[in-house]
Amino acid sequence: MTATVNRNAGDLVIALSKGRILEDALPLMTRIGIEPLDDPAKSRKLVLDTSREDVKLLVIRATDVPTYVEYGAADLGVAGKDVLMEYEGHDYYEPLDLGIARCRLMVAGLPGQDFSRRRPRIATKYARTARDYFESLGMQAEIIKLYGSMELAPLVGLADRIVDLVDTGNTLKANGLVAMETICEISSRLIVNKAAMKTKHARVSEIIGALREVVEQPA
Ligand code: ATP
Ligand code: PRP
Repeated sequence: MTATVNRNAGDLVIALSKGRILEDALPLMTRIGIEPLDDPAKSRKLVLDTSREDVKLLVIRATDVPTYVEYGAADLGVAGKDVLMEYEGHDYYEPLDLGIARCRLMVAGLPGQDFSRRRPRIATKYARTARDYFESLGMQAEIIKLYGSMELAPLVGLADRIVDLVDTGNTLKANGLVAMETICEISSRLIVNKAAMKTKHARVSEIIGALREVVEQPA
């Protein structure tokens, strides 16, 4: 790889998901002594220096985190279990449940709507996970891939059900939908590149250990 602006070969690189995971992950990083020098919410920089000279942060799309970690562009990453389940490769370690950005992956729909058609239509961003779930129930669902606002699909007749994340349930309620089945509980996980676990063992295990302590003793 060619040299980058502010990244050295010996740096420890941590990829964080933009958005709500970042809000929960930054306080954890601060508690283990890693603080970005620029505000990630305001900075246009893609590689952020931190209070530790040898540690850099990448703030990227949630769905890109496992890719960066699997290919070694980042040594560690923080991503939602929903994203990890949907990701095709699994060539990284997942040593720690950080317990942040908790929610549930659920099946939801309009109350009282018939679900007896032979091949129900399911709208979701989580195509792979949804297909596996309905297959495990012995159902051949037709999966309609969407990239957001899944709640709209049953309202306009695009799908019979949705598979989406639910936290407070407010988004479902605001759209007249009800939660029907829980596919699984979701939280964010720490993932680690397999080579980095060997070549940067001392620093990687120090970070895993420090995060584990912080997660076990909530602030
Ligand atoms: P992108 O913009 O890349 O498509 P996104 O819109 O899914 O990502 P966020 O809404 O910030 O980005 O969600 C990122 C992660 O946060 C999800 O992968 C999930 O793990 C978690 N998450 C999403 N919605 C909720 C929620 N309502 N409550 C708690 N955690 C959530
Ligand atoms: C997520 C998810 C739901 C909502 C659930 O969307 O896709 O729509 O949160 O949360 P609730 O149960 O607390 O209402 P998000 O706000 O991330 O918007 P998005 O459509 O951009 O993913």
